[in-house]
Amino acid sequence: MNASSRIPGFYKLDPESRFNKLVEFSGLPAEQLRPLQAVDAGMASIADRMIENAVGTIAIPLGIAANFLVNGVDYLVPMATEEPSVVAAASNAALVARERGGFHTSGTAPVMIAQVQVLDVADPQAARLRLLEARDELLALANAQDPLLVSLGGGARDIEVRLLTSADFRALVVHLHVDVRDAMGANAVNTMAEALAPRIAAIARGRSLLRILSNKADLRLVRARAVFDAGKLGGAAVVDGIVDAYRFAAADPYRAATHNKGIMNGISAVVLATGNDTRAIEAGAHCHACRDGRYTSLSHYEKDADGHLVGSIELPLALGLVGGATRTHPVAQAAVKLLAVKSAVQLAEITAAVGLAQNMAALRALATEGIQRGHMSLHARNVAANAGATEAEIGMLVERLAADGHVRLDRAQALLAEMRAGKA
Ligand code: MEV
Repeated sequence: MNASSRIPGFYKLDPESRFNKLVEFSGLPAEQLRPLQAVDAGMASIADRMIENAVGTIAIPLGIAANFLVNGVDYLVPMATEEPSVVAAASNAALVARERGGFHTSGTAPVMIAQVQVLDVADPQAARLRLLEARDELLALANAQDPLLVSLGGGARDIEVRLLTSADFRALVVHLHVDVRDAMGANAVNTMAEALAPRIAAIARGRSLLRILSNKADLRLVRARAVFDAGKLGGAAVVDGIVDAYRFAAADPYRAATHNKGIMNGISAVVLATGNDTRAIEAGAHCHACRDGRYTSLSHYEKDADGHLVGSIELPLALGLVGGATRTHPVAQAAVKLLAVKSAVQLAEITAAVGLAQNMAALRALATEGIQRGHMSLHARNVAANAGATEAEIGMLVERLAADGHVRLDRAQALLAEMRAGKA
């Protein structure tokens, strides 16, 4: 009989005891499962406080993107990613941007949207107006939930009432706009939405159902732009190639998804390194890419009057500096300290600059030599290690793989055998 995944009280155990249950369940030697455990007891207990049923942690490489000049200030940007070439590409693009002043950014106030869904409203048009008439009362009730936020200069700013209809669905939706200052804001706005829902339902004379933030955080936009020097990029033909590559993404959702994925390679890496919510950011970004009803590029490229490449990007980035993993995870805390940002908006603006840099680097590679060559050197190191090469052997094996032209495990194993035989 298979072991049962029903383990009463599993959630009450400590990470070590949960690990022992996994060993029992799997029938595997503990050594084979050992990598699931945290590197030390301190990290294990942090993990145990952060999520349920924690057994350990997974370490993702943390790299530092260099060369970032944003609004005249230099930053070394922490990026957590499992993908080779990402950090190098962002650093290279930032170096090109530096030549002509680096990145220039701006952002809106950090306003999040919470939604309250109201059903069974007999007179939705009039209910909408009744709710708008009660705006001040509703904002005051929302603000009463979070005096700290209000004391920091944030708080509920406005309401909006939308009527949704489809063949089998009619609902009234109240949007509450909340300036969440340096928080990501989910907790603040969800609390407010839950507190407001009974009053909203009463005013609308309906029944409230969902009360939750929207990840379409399109009142919380950040923008970044940079001029990429034509000479540094490799000349006018490269600039034209990048603009043509952008036009492909602008015109075609199949290409836009990949183009935007390249942007998110940079953005999500900063989001993860700073302990922010990668899924919220991804959802908001892709939804924004579809805001006019057709999925398209999040960035734009054009040529300036002097023939240099001008890149720009605008997207919602609901990033926080207080609360969540940003506060509880020591790596995230250190990452934020390294960035020395004074506000969540500043963090979001740097992150947008990284997204633009990442995107430009990918387009430049794609429009010139292709993406594979850049990927290959790190990939070759991984393949060499997987083939069993020792630290001392990796360098030579990578060179031989590159010369061979086939960066594959079977070739690496064969070349390693040849190297060792040659030595013997
Ligand atoms: C790979 O992770 C990202 C790219 O595919 C982005 C792009 O195609 O623009 C290289």
